[in-house]
Order: sequence, then structure tokens, then C-alpha cells
Amino acid sequence: MKDLAQTNTSAPWTEVGKPHPHESAVLHVCGTANYTDDLPELQGTLHAALGLSTQAHAKINNINLDAVRAAEGVVAVFAAKDFPGTNECGPIIKDDPILADGKVEYVGQPVFVVVAHSHDQARRAARLAKIDYDNLTPILHPRAARDAESYVLPPMSLSRGDARQALEKAPNRIQGSWQVGGQEQFYLEGQIAYAIPKEANGMAVMCSTQHPSEMQHIVAHALAIPSHSVQVECRRMGGGFGGKESQSGLWAAAAALCAFHLKRPIKLRADRDDDMMVTGKRHEFHYDYDVAYDEQGLILGARFEMVSRAGFSADLSGPVATRAVCHVDNTYYLSDVDIRAMCGKTNTQSNTAFRGFGGPQGAILIEYVIDEIARLLGQDALDVRKLNFYGRNDAEGRNVTHYGQKVADNVIHELVAEIEASSSYRARRLAINEFNAQSPVLKKGLALTPHKFGIAFNVTHLNQAGALVHVYLDGSVLVNHGGTEMGQGLNTKVAQVVAHELGVPLSEVRVSATDTTKIANTSATAASTGADLNGKAAQDAARQIRERLSEFAVKTYGGNVVDVRFSDGQIYCNGSSIAFEEVVNKAYFARVQLWSDGFYATPHLQWDSKTMTGSPFSYYAYGAAVSEVIVDTLTGEWKLLRADALYDAGNSLNPAIDVGQIEGAFIQGMGWLTTEELVWNANGKLTTHAPSTYKIPAISDCPEDFRVRLFKNTNVADSIHRSKAVGEPPLLLPFSVFFAIRDAIASVAEGKINPPLTAPATSEAILRAVTAVQTLQSQ
Ligand code: MTE
Ligand code: MOS
Repeated sequence: MKDLAQTNTSAPWTEVGKPHPHESAVLHVCGTANYTDDLPELQGTLHAALGLSTQAHAKINNINLDAVRAAEGVVAVFAAKDFPGTNECGPIIKDDPILADGKVEYVGQPVFVVVAHSHDQARRAARLAKIDYDNLTPILHPRAARDAESYVLPPMSLSRGDARQALEKAPNRIQGSWQVGGQEQFYLEGQIAYAIPKEANGMAVMCSTQHPSEMQHIVAHALAIPSHSVQVECRRMGGGFGGKESQSGLWAAAAALCAFHLKRPIKLRADRDDDMMVTGKRHEFHYDYDVAYDEQGLILGARFEMVSRAGFSADLSGPVATRAVCHVDNTYYLSDVDIRAMCGKTNTQSNTAFRGFGGPQGAILIEYVIDEIARLLGQDALDVRKLNFYGRNDAEGRNVTHYGQKVADNVIHELVAEIEASSSYRARRLAINEFNAQSPVLKKGLALTPHKFGIAFNVTHLNQAGALVHVYLDGSVLVNHGGTEMGQGLNTKVAQVVAHELGVPLSEVRVSATDTTKIANTSATAASTGADLNGKAAQDAARQIRERLSEFAVKTYGGNVVDVRFSDGQIYCNGSSIAFEEVVNKAYFARVQLWSDGFYATPHLQWDSKTMTGSPFSYYAYGAAVSEVIVDTLTGEWKLLRADALYDAGNSLNPAIDVGQIEGAFIQGMGWLTTEELVWNANGKLTTHAPSTYKIPAISDCPEDFRVRLFKNTNVADSIHRSKAVGEPPLLLPFSVFFAIRDAIASVAEGKINPPLTAPATSEAILRAVTAVQTLQSQ
């Protein structure tokens, strides 16, 4: 026991808010962080591979698997009929077979699973099946799906005010069509599941998944066993990006099916080509717009129609479309608006979650429209953007979204003003004009784009989380929560929250693997809510332990409970300072419970999915970026010269991790809008199924001058330590890259012509747009 006078307790204990390195950073860089494939294999482990459909849409007449069975090393083959339970992995709508049954609906659809002694043997054998198909006509394009009214779920619509009247009375009106492409998640660690049979038909599955509880349900249903007999564990993922929210289910269930029948541990690991052929991606969106605006560029009314490429089944296409509809306003007030969204059923991979979850596809539409309007009016797009911003407050008005939620935390005016100044936007605009006037081939472009992103799952009930905190007798702390770690730093943030609450150094706190036997009925780690939900749940658990320890300390050392402080690994009580470990030890002998569960449900959320109205979001995360590019108008090649990003992470839990998330999301979003192009051939086969043909950004694509900063703010909502989510919203920042490229192309005609440029702006697309602008100019 130390005398309090000798210790400095003036500074509050703050393990939150510090730029701690990622808790696994050392393991990551040393290659000693365990991913599912790194777990030591049990004796008797066999390896599985999936046999894939070669047809986009066909009835299966006959499957001849003789050659597969006879192949070297093969132990068994299983197909749809072998499921003891339901052959189904659709997360919401049950239209998604694990293995094709009677018909195939896309090239790459798994039809059977083959088990062999080695991974390689299984993969070779999987190609030997002879499947007799009766071909049906496939639908390969979302526009064709709309023409055929082929949807995976009914169209949705949302309107406010009177868009039709606004359009009819409009002083100016712009109509057109546009599109953005899809995107492969390209997690570095592919889909994988390792299923281990347990006694009494139990099943343990180690799985790379953002949603262990969903995996548990799918496996339990597939095997017709209760959920309590299925344990799903995920230590970490080598990236998920939404691609392992629902789509890890197929792999978990297929591995479990084999393990169930063979009573042997089964590993099912996809190689990159199979992974890209089988799994869904970001939805490409096709838009039709009709927008009324005044002479200054103020939007008076708008009609938007969007159809997404849902793929062959619903998966998460409904919620993705909902988020697109709810983000079509981005940072702008739309008084009179009419939106229709459709999820086109196509004979391609079933598209799914991808960072932003439809939000980017909604928001980029209005950014495109504003970019068009600005050029038509001969204005800087930044000025048109500012004119359309949501009002700052009730007095200013214009602060209720089209779905009825009040924007109560609007900081976009200040945030954009800050980055406009810090990036020298206006001066660089002039410098670029001068450069372009002197440079006939190389053209520069500049753009500033803002974003506002709603945080919470649209569906209210998903906004809940649980946690367990254990304090051991040596004072070390183990935390388990329902969220999953995919590199985003969730475990680091949750550990910081617990360390803060118990007043111990971060090094004393460890987070264990996500495990369905510890926290039940968890939500996916998605919608950027991981830290918001699990941080609060862990805080709740830690607080209960702290309160018990405070009471015990007062009983032992005297004083008042309200005065007990936890800081520096010490407990300060009644003028004394006692080591945390010592109090914990004494408390144990006094039979005080040293572990606790915790729970959190985000308050004040409400959503009516029928009318698409309510207050679905807990708060909004804001940001803006300025990008400057140089484009070679002879080759379509381009380079991002400088990017500035300012992001509102509220009271950041960990500024180092948050800046990392912003940088990563920026580059990932830039890839989506520029180099990453998914191409299906006339037979519906995805031809871009490996990095040889699908170009994600590399380190050389990052701008040399990259200035990412956090906006000084504090969350108005009572979030965990008043922080804001950071996982997805910054994916919207590189809209600025796309519009800077478009700006550079437009300079070919002194900015007077709107370049016909869709996303992704590949070099070929840029070249086509340059040629189109030159042709239009010469007419
Ligand atoms: N960051 C890394 N490194 N890897 C990932 O897979 N996924 C993103 C984002 N950041 C991802 C990532 C997505 S899609 C989401 S929804 C959030 O992280 C999920 O984690 P969070 O809610 O804890 O932010
Ligand atoms: Mo993120 S797309 O919500 O997994």
C-alpha cells in the first residue's frame, strides 16, 4: 500500500483516445497471427473442394460423379440430397441453396463437395464431374432483369413532397442514366471453414466469418441439430469487407456436412479463383434520374430509379438497396423526392455486403447529378454542393432527411470549410486551370466531395451486443465480445474501453476469439457498429466488476464508494493506493464475483420498412476529401497526385487505428471507382476471377502526398466515449478521385461539356470519355 500523497492521480486514466498500435500488430508483421488455416490440424483431417456449375442457368438432368469418386485420394462426395436438415444458407429470404438442387443459376454455383486426403487432390477431383444440363435462358444484366421484372424481392419506394410537380415547374431540368460497377471484396485471406465433429452429433466450426451466430444457425439447420450443439469460433479474419457477413455460410455448412457424415475433421479452403467465382460482391447499380434545379444549382425536386445486380438470390440485396435509398441524399436536403429501388435477379453470383453496404451506391448518384448541374451552370461544383447542404440547425431548417430522421449533428459546413482551406482548394483550382491551359496532353483535375453516413443497422433489432469480462487473480483481464476482428482494430478498441474502465494498462487486457458458446445470438460485425455496440457491452461488464471492487475496497479500506478511483493499475481508496492485483486477490478470498456479462442495445432507433421512414440511425459520420489527379489524354492513364481527407470520428477511441481505417477505405473505394472492373462473358461466366485480370490498387497507386486528418468533434449521441464509427464511411471519400478524373477530362473542352464517364473509370473508359468530349466539342 502506497501513501496517496506520493502518487499523482491528477490525470484521469485514459486508455481510450490514445493511438495504441493494433493489439495484433506484432503478430501480423511477424507472421505469427493465427488465421483459420494456421490452426494446427487435428489427426485425420481431410480436405474438401467444391464442384462448380459451368452453366449460368440450367436444369440439372443428371450428375455423374463416378470419375470424381475414382480420382486419386478421394474419400467421399456429397450433394444436395445429403443434408440431414435444410440445404439453405440465405440470411433473410430462404432462396439460397448451399449446394445446387435440380437447377443451377450462375456459373460458379457449387453443385457438390468432394473430400480427399489433400487440398490439391480434392480440387483436381472436383473438375471431373459430368453434369448433364438442360439450358435455360439466363438474365445477365440488371437492366435486362428490370425489363423482365425479374427481381429477388419486391421493388421498394420512398417519396416525400411532390417530386412530379417540382419537376414540371422546374426552371431547369436534367435527365439521364448512369451506372457504377460492382466490386470484389478481395480479402487477403479467402473463405475458409474447418469443421470438427464432436460427440453426440455436435459440430465445432472454425471459420473466417463476420457473423459466427449466423454460421451457427446455418450449420444447425443444415445438419438438423440444435444450435447448442454447434460451436463456431473466429479468432480473426484476414479481411472481410462485408464478404464474410453472409457468404461464409456456404463454406461453413459444406465443411460441416462432410464432417458430420465422415466423422473426421474437414477443412474447406477456397483458392482465389473459386472464391471469386462462387461468392457475391458489391452490387453494381444502374440509375435513371430526373432532377429539377434553379439558376444557382439548388435542387428543387428529384426522381431517382435504381436497379442493382442482386445476382441469383436475395442474400443481403434488400438491406443494401435500403441503405442506398437512405443515402441518396448524402449531405444534401432533398425537399421533393421520389425514389424507386429494385434488386435485379440476374444469373450471376449473389451479391452481398461490401464496405458501405449500398450507402456509397446511393450517395454517389447525387454527387454525379451535382457534378453535372455545376458544369451545365458553369459553376465550381463545390459551390453547388454547399448550396444544397442540409441546414445547420432547426432555425435554418432543411434538416430532416427524406426518410424522416432529423439531422441533429450536422457538421458538414464547418468540416468542408476546414478542408477547403487546409487543402488550398481555390488556389489549386486556379493553378490547375493555368496548368491545363499550357498542357495539351496531360490534364489535371480537382474535386472536393463530402459525405454523411448513417450509423446503425437499418433493422432496429440487430443493434444489440453482449460481452464477458473476466478478471483473474494475477490482475490480468480477459474480454470476450460478440464482434469479430477483421483487421479493423475492434479488439484493440474494446480492450482499451475495458482497460479504461478498470484503470489498468492496456497490456493487462486480452481479447479472446469470438465464440458462439460465450456470447449468444450476436449480430454480424457490420454496418461499422462493431465498436459502438461491443465497446458499450464490454464497458457495461467491466463497470459491474469495478463497482463490486469499489464496494469491496470501501469495506476493506474505508471511505466512500463514489470516491474510489481506478487508475494506473491502482485502486485509490480512502487516501490509500492499492495495486489492482492486490484488491482483486483480497476480493476473491472474500468471494466477490470477478467476472461479469454486459449488454447493450442502441437507444432511440425506429424504422418502418414498409413506408421506409423513421429514425434508423444513431448518428451520422461526416467527412470530406479533396483529390487532385493528372490524366494522360492520349492513353487514359492517370495518377492521384495528392489527396486530403478530413473525417469526423467524434472523440476517436484510437486515432492511429482510425487514420488507418480512413486510408484503407479511401484506397479501397478508389479501386472500386477506377481500376476494379468485373466482366462477365456472353455465357455469364465471370472472366475477371483472379488478380491477373482484376486490378485492385497497389501501394504504387497510393498518392505520394496523402493527408488524412481527424475532424475535431464529439458525438452528440451517447456513443462509446462519444466516438464515431469509422469502418465504412471513409469509403465515400474517394468519390473525389472519380470526380477529379472527370474534371480533368472536362478540361479538354474547357469544362463546358459533361464527360460521359461511368464508374469504374478505367483507363479505357477515360480514353473513351476524352474522345467523346473531343467529338462533341468539334460538332
Ligand atoms: N478494415 C479491415 N482492415 N478489414 C476489413 O475487413 N471491413 C470493413 C471495415 N473496415 C474491414 C475493415 C467493414 S465492411 C465494416 S462493416 C467494418 O470494418 C466492421 O468493423 P467495425 O464495425 O468494427 O468498424
Ligand atoms: Mo460491412 S459491408 O457492413 O460488413
